[in-house]
Amino acid sequence: MPVVTIPSASLTPTPEESRSFCAQLEAGDILYFPQSPVPLASDDTSFLLGQQQADSSLHKNIAYKPAIDRLSGFDAKTANPAAVERLQRIMRGYSSSVVQFLTSFLAPYQQHWKLDYASFRPQEEQGRDLPLRRRNDLLHTDAFPTRPTHGARILRFFNNIHPARTRDWIVSDPFAATVRQFAPKEIAPRPGSALSRIGKASARAIGLGAAIPSLKRSPYDDFMMRFHNFLKENPRFQADCPKYSFQFPSGSSWMVYTDTVPHAVLAGQYALEQTFLVRPEAMVRPEISPLRILEEIAHAPLV
Ligand code: SIN
Ligand code: FE
Repeated sequence: MPVVTIPSASLTPTPEESRSFCAQLEAGDILYFPQSPVPLASDDTSFLLGQQQADSSLHKNIAYKPAIDRLSGFDAKTANPAAVERLQRIMRGYSSSVVQFLTSFLAPYQQHWKLDYASFRPQEEQGRDLPLRRRNDLLHTDAFPTRPTHGARILRFFNNIHPARTRDWIVSDPFAATVRQFAPKEIAPRPGSALSRIGKASARAIGLGAAIPSLKRSPYDDFMMRFHNFLKENPRFQADCPKYSFQFPSGSSWMVYTDTVPHAVLAGQYALEQTFLVRPEAMVRPEISPLRILEEIAHAPLV
């Protein structure tokens, strides 16, 4: 079972312990905190749980961008401004608490990450009607269509804030084992391909008139995006791969490198999440990073 339980007594690790937590994450383990080290105040939780009823424009998954202190993903025309302001304050506080906790808990990564988006996920995950590539109940590794990472790793920290229910995940074997079953025979890194620009439609969707150079995907990003789609579209993998299930209880937290651990959420409602993009030079085990593994398969640099 790839889940490592962190007791409350281990929340302030020594430098060696911190390094070993990083190594466990990089090897594909989920670090699980039975009681979240970044709990939400109970009136904030009640507010978030009430949004579905109170304001239908705030019932979708909502992103918070810490760098510009902005919420997105709701209809600003119909949302209640006071509710938006409160949600923004809660997300700002959550984001900075997670950063503060991980700055010491994962000390070797400190200053080597880019703080990405946080999200509030109020929707029931079971039975969501989404297009196949957007479904999160199929096992997949994460890749962002509009935010290429150029080798940086996608680390995600979650809180289950549902008052009673678990959030139900399945995971499969980490990247090295999974990717080697398929690459390079069925899906290959394309080292020679020119950097591909993000499409005009995606650029428009994130508020840019045209694709700009910083949005160019590296061959690494190109592979990670195709691999995400490949896994979701592969019924044989979905049916036959090794599966480990875990139910994260109400009030718990967990974190995992979602770019390399195939994961799916089958059921659950109301979660908070903060994403970090951790730069390759911060890895304590660079030899098992997805960039290194893919470069070995491709026999060429990919960023
Ligand atoms: C995902 O990253 O696939 C979704 C995980 C979750 O919302 O629990
Ligand atoms: Fe995912």
